[in-house]
Amino acid sequence: MSPQQKAAAIAGRKGSRPIAALTCYDFPTARLLDEAGVDILLVGDSLGMVVLGFPDTTHVTLDHILHHLEAVARTKPKALVIADLPIHTYNTPQQAVETARKLTAAGADAVKLEGGIRQAEKVRAITAAGIPVCGHLGMLPQRVLEEGGYHKKGKTPAQIRAILEGAEALIDAGVFAIILESVTPASSREITAAISVPTIGIGCGEGTCDGEIAVITDLLGSFPWFVPPFAKPETDVAGATIAAARKYVSRVSGNS
Ligand code: KIV
Repeated sequence: MSPQQKAAAIAGRKGSRPIAALTCYDFPTARLLDEAGVDILLVGDSLGMVVLGFPDTTHVTLDHILHHLEAVARTKPKALVIADLPIHTYNTPQQAVETARKLTAAGADAVKLEGGIRQAEKVRAITAAGIPVCGHLGMLPQRVLEEGGYHKKGKTPAQIRAILEGAEALIDAGVFAIILESVTPASSREITAAISVPTIGIGCGEGTCDGEIAVITDLLGSFPWFVPPFAKPETDVAGATIAAARKYVSRVSGNS
């Protein structure tokens, strides 16, 4: 399937089968997640926090994303591979297209950027270049410094209206799906019912959107230093890693 067909297939899931998406930053994880039937692998800029050790996503560069995207793309997954446009790499429509082209050359099927009305012209330019675009509304991690932290969205009628207006602008510009982050459950349901493309939620309450996305380390329990309140780990990779490493140290140092 071409990237455009893969993106269209995700768009076609609206109102039918929920979409299961995960972030992914390396080759072995991509192979395993694809084998498990995950629909979307997002090489997200959360990479900066959960892999590279930065305090937030504003430190992530295009080179960081390209390096990890190439590893994920080397698996040639059935899943749709989306790559984030990092902060400061889509300041103008022309720069947005140049960045999106670099990401697709490195193996992305589609790209994602944060924001609504102010990004519509950039989305239009990227989709005109034949590259599928996923939107990202609600809480926007790349704006954490301006907003002074991570705040829940969709709490007031004005906030819901702003998200809906942003969604309509993005849809008009050609997005095939929109990630909704940290929007209240009732507002997520309302927005999901009101718009024509699938919403994929994180921190919005499971079952309130057309799909779910989770950061892979939250699912695996492999980043115990910061666990968001909505995370639902399915295993304890941090605990298993410490236990295995302790056994190894003890075996090698002869104290077993
Ligand atoms: O970078 C990322 O992991 C994301 C998800 C939170 C959706 O954008």
